[in-house]
Amino acid sequence: MKDYKIVICGGGSTYTPGIVKNLLDVKDELAIRELWLYDIDGERQDRVARVVQAVVDANDPGLPLHVSTEPSEAFAGADFIMAQMRVGGLPMRIKDEQISLKHGVVGQETCGAGGMAYGMRTIFPMVELIDTCEKYAAPTYWIVNYSNPAAIVAKATYKLRPNARILNICDMPVEIEARMAEILNCPLSNLEVDYFGLNHYGWFTKVRCRGVDVTEQLKAHVREHGYLAAASMDDALVKDPDWAHTFKNSATITSLFTDYLPNTYWQYYLLPDACVAYMDINNTRGMQVVNGREKRVFAASDALARGEQIDLTQFYVGVHGAFIVDVVKSLAHDLRHRRLVIVPNNGAIENLSDDATVEVPAYLTDRGPEPVRVGAIPRFYKGLIEQQDACEGLIVEAAIEGSYEKALQAFTLNRTIPSAAVAKAVLDDMIEANQGYWPELR
Ligand code: NAD
Ligand code: G6P
Ligand code: MN
Repeated sequence: MKDYKIVICGGGSTYTPGIVKNLLDVKDELAIRELWLYDIDGERQDRVARVVQAVVDANDPGLPLHVSTEPSEAFAGADFIMAQMRVGGLPMRIKDEQISLKHGVVGQETCGAGGMAYGMRTIFPMVELIDTCEKYAAPTYWIVNYSNPAAIVAKATYKLRPNARILNICDMPVEIEARMAEILNCPLSNLEVDYFGLNHYGWFTKVRCRGVDVTEQLKAHVREHGYLAAASMDDALVKDPDWAHTFKNSATITSLFTDYLPNTYWQYYLLPDACVAYMDINNTRGMQVVNGREKRVFAASDALARGEQIDLTQFYVGVHGAFIVDVVKSLAHDLRHRRLVIVPNNGAIENLSDDATVEVPAYLTDRGPEPVRVGAIPRFYKGLIEQQDACEGLIVEAAIEGSYEKALQAFTLNRTIPSAAVAKAVLDDMIEANQGYWPELR
């Protein structure tokens, strides 16, 4: 069996110990020659790496773990690069959230003003990662990218590096599928979905369990309870009250718009007023992550440094890790697993432009994703999607051209922002806060 050099870019991420656990779970199906962690923040990465080493010791003690901040060694000959960089870190996430909320608009990591600000920060570091891989990695490398905002990253990288071997993915659809599986009492592996949209902006059009159409049954449940069932309450993600609230909130949208089942992220675009009312500027989601997930990883690392035992299972990230590992496996071994991924439209959604950046089912082959044609979509959904795709396209153009006006157009087009005046006020504060991260806008 061929073996692979795998690099986790953003090795200091809170998700790294969990993803490594998922990788080691399938070591008999995906042989690892070398496992590398790479990050621009060596100190942070070393702290997380201590926990990762414990995961390796517990699951595959012979495997050497390499930790580096030097691209020429980390990416040399790499086959798969799992990217999960957060440009500006959690402190900038919190700024994005708070600046937005100060102006009365949704303060969110990937949606609205926060998502656009994060996009402007991430475009060029992701292009740099591609250039690094082109230079040092194996010619057949694949970057499998989780780095957010994935919609904007995808659009920018297709435009700036059209030949790059990058596949952008999101765990939200599959997290929702995991909730569907709990609701239906159907194993996740027996569930098949049809879906169309943009990243964090899509709809499930059909759900089948073992080939039987269960869409209407599922809609009836989601209208009443959102994406939660009694069986969901044991899930690590659902135990987080903020996520439980999000999964529940899909009830409202499913009741209002009855054609399809929504991605949870629609709450920010279709119910922005309710989201703003729910959000707390003094306890944003980013702050919750710092005080929760991040604090736990650092505490565990410190405990390991003192020679104490820790409970590693708290870092196992379930579907999030399993999904990216499955994508890598499918690309490596031409498994043609049918998964929801982010791709240039090119006819997949018939009545959208070719250069839209869509999330649809695709068969994952060793040549990359082969997207499924999902046909034409109704006017309401087309209208929503075209508006958001234009917004994301304008952010990319604003970054490339250094155009203030295009950034203002993007902020104005976003559904979470009520007027051009508010758009300008938030944008101006974002420019101030993002000095050193954003390209200069004139
Ligand atoms: P985190 O801040 O804990 O970790 C991110 C790491 O990236 C940090 O160690 C940081 O130093 C590093 N980094 C920043 N810029 C970098 C660069 N240019 N090159 C290499 N490393 C760099 O963040 P997190 O909460 O663990 O999330 C990690 C990323 O994964 C974020 O972008 C997040 O939005 C994304 N994410 C995406 C999905 C998805 O569905 N696509 C799901 C979960 C998380
Ligand atoms: C889901 C989304 C990701 C997003 C994450 C945020 O997994 O698919 O794109 O980054 O949620 O979760 P958090 O717990 O950091 O708020
Ligand atoms: Mn996502």
